[in-house]
Amino acid sequence: MAGAENLGVGVDVGGSGIKGAVVDLTTGEFVGERVKIATPKPATPDAVAAVVADVVRELKWDGPVGVALPSVIKHQIAVTAANIDKSWIGTNVHDLLARHLGARQIAVLNDADAAGLAEVAFGEEDAKRGAVIFLTFGTGIGSAFFADGRLFPNTELGHLLIDGRDAEHLASSAVKDAEDLSYPEWATRVDTVLKEFDRLFNPAAFVVGGGISRKADRWVPHLTVDVPVIPAKLRNRAGIVGAAMAVREHVAP
Ligand code: BGC
Repeated sequence: MAGAENLGVGVDVGGSGIKGAVVDLTTGEFVGERVKIATPKPATPDAVAAVVADVVRELKWDGPVGVALPSVIKHQIAVTAANIDKSWIGTNVHDLLARHLGARQIAVLNDADAAGLAEVAFGEEDAKRGAVIFLTFGTGIGSAFFADGRLFPNTELGHLLIDGRDAEHLASSAVKDAEDLSYPEWATRVDTVLKEFDRLFNPAAFVVGGGISRKADRWVPHLTVDVPVIPAKLRNRAGIVGAAMAVREHVAP
């Protein structure tokens, strides 16, 4: 499939899987099936880029590709690597992907920023206005800041220290699994984290995404933070959709 005007491909690199799909950029819906391939171990830049190329090949796509990574991306260079192989640090991700994907338009951005962009475009109306903090709960905690829908990229609230621990070591959904916490127990952790984020950044609303937002009814009602907490509408589709959008919208942090 070639790059039709309203279509794009997004690939979301996660701790366990590398997922991609052709996205209709006018609706935010997938066109056809999502492709998922296990994240290679170790998840070095070349090993991951090879799998990204496999995903794109399986999608039979030769148009532009956007890639979302769990890393701060500045001038297309990975600056951090909290939950991926440390050898990513200093990698020019654009050039790496160009070697594996060949000549085509490529955009690279942080995974939470990508998911937030998609949520602003296709999610709840309240995500589009005012100061909104979008959060993803997964292996880590990702964050994206929006003012009236415009992204301030590369915020890393998952690494804000709370009681001497990274917020994501307290309240990611991976921690819920590792410590076998019930939803109410885990919600207490999330509440602590959200209250600290609120104290420092005072958003009008939090939008909460990641796979666990599928079960939002089991934990969001337990939160007591004094700011609306809106479950993400696109759930874990958002990273792929936002990555695909980033190419056309020329988001290149
Ligand atoms: C990383 C972020 C990422 C988040 C979610 C954190 O550990 O530092 O860049 O957005 O995990 O994947």
